[in-house]
Parts: sequence; C-alpha cells; structure tokens
Amino acid sequence: EKGTYPHFMLKEIDEQPFVMRKIIQEYQDDNDDIKLDKDIRKAMKKCDRVYIIAAGTSYHAGLIGKEFLEKIAEVPTEVHVASEFSYNFPLLSENPLFVFISQSGETADLRSVLVETKKLGHPALTITNVPGSTLSREANYTMHLHAGPEIAVASTKAYTAQMAVLAILAVDTARAKGIELDFDPMQELGIVSNAMEALCDQKEVFDQIARDYLSTTRNCFFIGRGSDYYVGLEGALKLKEISYIQAEGFAGGELKHGTIALIEDGTPVIALATQEHVNGSIRSNVQEVVTRGANDCIISLEGLDREGDAFVIPKVHRLFTPLVSVLPLQLISYYAALHRDCDVDKPRNLAKSVTVE
Ligand code: F6R
Repeated sequence: EKGTYPHFMLKEIDEQPFVMRKIIQEYQDDNDDIKLDKDIRKAMKKCDRVYIIAAGTSYHAGLIGKEFLEKIAEVPTEVHVASEFSYNFPLLSENPLFVFISQSGETADLRSVLVETKKLGHPALTITNVPGSTLSREANYTMHLHAGPEIAVASTKAYTAQMAVLAILAVDTARAKGIELDFDPMQELGIVSNAMEALCDQKEVFDQIARDYLSTTRNCFFIGRGSDYYVGLEGALKLKEISYIQAEGFAGGELKHGTIALIEDGTPVIALATQEHVNGSIRSNVQEVVTRGANDCIISLEGLDREGDAFVIPKVHRLFTPLVSVLPLQLISYYAALHRDCDVDKPRNLAKSVTVE
C-alpha cells in the first residue's frame, strides 16, 4: 500500500534509509561479524573470477559491484548484460563464479544464462529481492536484498540494496582472504542511511531542479567519471523510463569523441562530481559543454563542492558514495515525470518483470 504517498516510486525512494538499516540488521551477527551462508563464503574464496550477469538497473548495480569486489576483495570481476552474454561468451577462468543480480529473480535473459552456465557445471549465486523466485531456486546460493516489495516499475530501493549487499559480500570475502580493511561496512552503511535520510528531507530542491532543467527539454545528458559515470547511466535510465525524455549517460572524457556535437543552447547536462581524483577533470568537461551552451547542473560532494553547484551531497565512505549520489537523480527523475504529467509508477511500454527473452 502506498499510504499517504501519491506514488509507489516516491515511497520506495523514501524507504531507502530504512532498507539500509534492515540490511545491516540482517547481515550482522551478535558478534558484529558478517552473517553469511558459509557456502557462499567458500565459493567466493575458491573462485578466481566473478562474472556478474544482470539487466537494466541491476546491471548498473553490477558495475559498482565490480568496483567493490576488485577494490575491497581483490577478486577480478566482469559485468555482463544478460541478453548479450551468449553472443560474447567470454573465455572463462578456471574457477568462475556466476553472480546473477535481479530484483524480481524472474528476468528471462538472466535465466537463460543460468541454464547455460549450469550445464557447464559452474556455481551460481543469485542476489535478489525475492528469495523464492526462479533465479533463486535454480542457483546454488542466494543473497536476499531485504528491500521489501518494489511496486513502481522504475527500480530505486532495489538498486541501492543491491549495492549494499554487494559491498557486504566484498568485505566478507576480503576478511575470509585475510585482507586488512580500514573500515567497517555496517558502520559505513549506517552513515549512508543517515545521508539518504538527509537527502529525502530536501525534496523541494530536486523538485525545483526538475522544473528548471527538465520541464520542456527533449533531451538530457548525465556525465561523470569512474563510479560517477556508472551512477549517471542509472540516472539516465531512470529519467528516460518515467519521463520519456531522451537521456544518456556518458563518461566525461568520451564527450569530445562525438556526443558533444549534440550540445545546443539550453541542453541540460547533469554532472556528478563526487570523487576527489576526478574533480578537476569532470569540471573541465562541464566547462566544455557550458561553452557550447549547455545548462549545467552539478551535483557534488561535501568538501569537493564549488560555487554554483546545484546540490552538495553529504560525505560518506569513498566507496559507498554511489549509494547516496543516486538519490538526487532518482528524485529529479520522479519530479520531471510528475511535471510532464507522466504515469510515474506505470510508464508506457514497460513491465515490472521481463519474463520473455
Ligand atoms: C529500471 C528497471 C529495469 C530492471 C531490469 C532488471 O528501473 O526496473 O531496468 O532493472 O528489467 O530487472 P530485475 O532486476 O528484476 O532482473
């Protein structure tokens, strides 16, 4: 039930701080250690490469998951769009582990990859919001998102839950391998939860950004570098699916290789600038588009912000920033759809779970 909320999407965006707390609760044992199926721990320790398979928003979570697994747990990781996997079947490592990320657990494109990899005898872990789902039943192991039912077609809380669970998996693997870490994932997720709450309390800012930048535009670009680029891809998907604005996410450095030709007077460009090591370079990219007439909207991080930024998000652990920086993009998309009289929860041509290939 959506209670006092006008739309499920807004309710689900607002639920994200609570989902973070629920995940902390579910994945922490009485000794403050990570609570995880021992067989998953073993499978992660044994594998020499993780192959993440997913679609849409879950694929975008997988891109961040790769960062967690490689940077935290030192596990080489590839991320594949499920529907393309069999055409580009990679040369597999000796001990691959397949990780299927799916909110619904029913996505047919993922299932056909699972059928194929099972035939080859490779182990599979499904990360899903629906533990009894097809992908959960057919895989060897399951990790539950604990996000509660997601009703709006546009995925929001499942995406942040997927990233949180992937971070926990990465930290658990790191510990099992004896890698020393200088942070506690549960504590960091608690900080993320508070930051999310702070953003949810400032909705009017995002409502205004949507009004100023997106009420009449026909297109919109999202730019970022590194993980900001991945979050930008998700921002663009959110915006296009519910507001029907043609939106694309690009790596800041790629613009000059073609896309910059599309920038006209007034073209909205939403830039994420949340990482210290690329702050200068992404801001030069913004300058390049502004010179060509773009209407820039910079979302930055506390401490890295500069005058004129449209919004500054609170600081959280460097690796966990995507869990927070996506909220402004979700809210901006929500209000853009609202101002353009679109059916927010049930956008045209889309189904909540895609059970055909
Ligand atoms: C976007 C969206 C879709 C799904 C995709 C995968 O908001 O909802 O892109 O993310 O269809 O669905 P699941 O995660 O259920 O496999």
